[in-house]
Amino acid sequence: MTDCKKCGQPAAIYLTRYGLGFCSDHFLEFLRNKVKKSIHKYKLLNPYDRIAVALSGGKDSAVLLHILDSIYSEALDLIGLHINLGIEPSNYSKISLNLARELCSDLGREFYCVDLRKEYRISMDLVEKKEKQLKRSLCGICGTFKRYLLNKYSLELDCEKIATGHVLDDEVSVLLMNMINGNVEQLVRTGPNLIAKNEIMITRIKPLYEISELETMIYAQFANLKIQDVECPYSKGASSLKYKKLYLMFENQLPGLGITFLHNFHKKILGPLQEYYQTTREKVRICAICGGPTSETVCAFCNIRKILTRNE
Ligand code: AMP
Ligand code: FES
Ligand code: ZN
Ligand code: ZN
Repeated sequence: MTDCKKCGQPAAIYLTRYGLGFCSDHFLEFLRNKVKKSIHKYKLLNPYDRIAVALSGGKDSAVLLHILDSIYSEALDLIGLHINLGIEPSNYSKISLNLARELCSDLGREFYCVDLRKEYRISMDLVEKKEKQLKRSLCGICGTFKRYLLNKYSLELDCEKIATGHVLDDEVSVLLMNMINGNVEQLVRTGPNLIAKNEIMITRIKPLYEISELETMIYAQFANLKIQDVECPYSKGASSLKYKKLYLMFENQLPGLGITFLHNFHKKILGPLQEYYQTTREKVRICAICGGPTSETVCAFCNIRKILTRNE
């Protein structure tokens, strides 16, 4: 049995990739330090920033809020922001909302929830019913909803930035997917620090950018975080999950491949790609319906909502 590298107590976890064992307390400390390093490296935060933390009710965003709260107890104004997507099967949305709210209350942080049904008379349940008319995957539409609402409400809540719980596995698998499918537009918009280009957009940061999903899973367990453990009923068969599996297959064969890929992409590929793309890129426009950011006349959110509320 291995001992904790820090205190010599029996280790609760052995991290093969680093060849290190930790007791539970020192694993929590190890991960917080790792996140702190990413925050400094990518210049993600400034003292006394007001940060909206996008809370899904799941483990990654719960770990994110818990870590930010532990590292910067007084130095950051953190507010939990949850989108109630209106998913009734498995009581999914209700459970997610309660977990997100409870975490903020336990940590003494402000909490805000946007309810798609109440605010916009739409829901993911309605999207599922009208999937054929929408001609897009459920997860893709859900992603549009989340991006739109997180941007809008974090600005309304007077936040400087929004932090999401995207982890290394998410970033690498999305990069892979976009490279394989040649989605240049999405490729130039990746990274841990997506700085807002105008006042109708908010800066999006990903403090868990270099943390693996396995690490957040262990952290959630050791910190006794209550998290949503049911899989979203609409995510079955989602292509993002297939690319994640593909990435994990690579990672199993070549441990460390993911982080090397991310670092190389950002150091060597992203810069020239952005430079090239800037010359051909359209400017951000203002949606004719809601005033939000878009590259077309009407934004994707308003277009989907128009279809969903037709014949109401
Ligand atoms: P996903 O899009 O499900 O891969 O989640 C990525 C990140 O988006 C999560 O770590 C959260 O920070 C954020 N997020 C996902 N779902 C929600 C939600 N319902 N409300 C607020 N934030 C969310
Ligand atoms: Fe968006 Fe499941 S959470 S489709
Ligand atoms: Zn220890
Ligand atoms: Zn719009």
